[in-house]
Amino acid sequence: MLDLIVRRANLPDGRTGIDIAVKDGKIVEVVTAIAATAAREIDATGRLVTPPFIDIHFHMDATLSLGLPRLNTSGTLLEGIALWGELKPILTQEAVLERALRYCDLAVSQGLLAVRTHVDVCDDRLLAVEALLEAKKRVAPYLDLQLVAFPQDGYYRSPTAVANLERSLDMGVDVVGGIPHFERTMADGSASVRALCEIAEKRGLLVDMHCDESDDPWSRHIEALTAETVRLGMQGRVTGSHLTSMHSFDNYYASKLIALMAEANMRVISNPLINITIQGRHDTYPKRRGMTRVPELKAAGLTVAFGHDCVMDPWYSLGQGDMLEVAHMGLHVAQLTGLDAMRGCFESVTTNPATIFGLEGYGLDAGCNADFVVLDARDPIEAIRLKPPRLAVVRRGKVIAEATPRVSTLSIEGRPARVAAAEYAPRLGG
Ligand code: FE2
Repeated sequence: MLDLIVRRANLPDGRTGIDIAVKDGKIVEVVTAIAATAAREIDATGRLVTPPFIDIHFHMDATLSLGLPRLNTSGTLLEGIALWGELKPILTQEAVLERALRYCDLAVSQGLLAVRTHVDVCDDRLLAVEALLEAKKRVAPYLDLQLVAFPQDGYYRSPTAVANLERSLDMGVDVVGGIPHFERTMADGSASVRALCEIAEKRGLLVDMHCDESDDPWSRHIEALTAETVRLGMQGRVTGSHLTSMHSFDNYYASKLIALMAEANMRVISNPLINITIQGRHDTYPKRRGMTRVPELKAAGLTVAFGHDCVMDPWYSLGQGDMLEVAHMGLHVAQLTGLDAMRGCFESVTTNPATIFGLEGYGLDAGCNADFVVLDARDPIEAIRLKPPRLAVVRRGKVIAEATPRVSTLSIEGRPARVAAAEYAPRLGG
């Protein structure tokens, strides 16, 4: 007897009427009309079943801290960093852990089952590192958490960051981070890129740096990161996060750089909600969008993912752990409105971040982990449009979250009594 069968699902690749059979936490069969029975069956007729959402760029040490110790009145990146600096000395390990666990509850309810979070290592107590390592252990049964050692105040600019970063890696942090554009000079930024990549290479770790998160058309740290990747033979293991300066680069230079990035198999993470609200703040009009060149990077064959970055913290007052909200914003900001481009936005919060994360057993093939989400939408484009309830969230074959379809009742004479947004979509192309 099987543990679970999901019946008549639509899959992200366009297949319909598919049954998914699960046994011992693994997907064992994905075909039409499985004859066997299971301890539990989910009727997903006409609904999209997708591998879980992944947030590949997040700050879990800051999440849900909105208003502590005060609100960001200007809404700018620099006031956010200053505000985080005010909050850090009064943080406690218990409070960081409690907020992280609460956020993970919210994430699971949204079908978000893997998060790569940066953790600030510029506080000598490293209490956020300890708190998130503990959170990682506690949530492991239901959510994969990956930690990045992030020198928020600058690897060289902060007096103890060099030592703290190594300490945090010794404690078990998974990935080497950086913030070269926040160092004192361009030269310090380049030096930090070199030193941090060497640390990662020596320890056999991945790299994921906040890189060129500014509107400065002359910020060139992604060039240095790309060159270091090739020099150290780390192709496919290095990620540039944000890369917002690329928006403002000269087109000729960008075309040269993107080819070099493709050669280095550089991974790219854009954070549309944050980029569109934080960049371009010094502009009058026209006002730059400040998001990196997603369509061009994708066209060059690079793996591009979208991250949430922030939820209710010093930098961003909004958010609810919904990666479809992130995909929705990315689609709009980058004008990815073609059919394939919209489907690509869905991949930017599912399969692409899985590749960058290095998640094993991810997907909907036989042999993969039985981790998936049933959405109240028919296909990936409709999912982005509706951001619908996650009817069932399954982890290792067990339903760990459920929701009901979103339905309103109308009281207008002569009109239907029931309205459900999910029922209003004509089939694309039909
Ligand atoms: Fe970030």
